[in-house]
Amino acid sequence: MSEKNVKCESCTNQKSQKFDEIANIIDLYKDKEGSLIQVLHLAQEIYGYLPLELQKMIATSMEIPLSEVSGVITFYSFFSTTPRGEHTIRVCLGTACYVRGGKKLVERLQEILNVQIGETTQDGKFTFEIARCIGACGLAPAMMIDKKVYKQVNVNKLESILSKY
Ligand code: FES
Repeated sequence: MSEKNVKCESCTNQKSQKFDEIANIIDLYKDKEGSLIQVLHLAQEIYGYLPLELQKMIATSMEIPLSEVSGVITFYSFFSTTPRGEHTIRVCLGTACYVRGGKKLVERLQEILNVQIGETTQDGKFTFEIARCIGACGLAPAMMIDKKVYKQVNVNKLESILSKY
């Protein structure tokens, strides 16, 4: 068997393990009313994103229409149907950050990362998103990488911040 085939087999095993894990979660939640969002959160945590195949599995297992599952995913911006980067960058464009240069941070990051808002870099390292206030208005403009908040960021600091990841 070629190395490529071995790799693919391991990917398939990992995928099916993750689907099994998600199936177990659905068993725990499916009879609880309003549990779809919770299930989707946990499924995204385990699988990384919510592709159509996984949406179908969730819909079938929870005995709800696929359109309902897809509708919830589309409605909430924190759900993603495409693979996400290893790290998520969120630049705040709430009012305080916007007026203090948040937009410049967005433009510069688009240049550095070569992505648009909502996209993931080609190397899979960063997903780039916008936030609406992350609770650091007094030290605007602010941005987050994963759970770490960076305050009073300016365009000259961006490359050194990114180099830590
Ligand atoms: S507006 Fe950016 S942290 Fe509040």
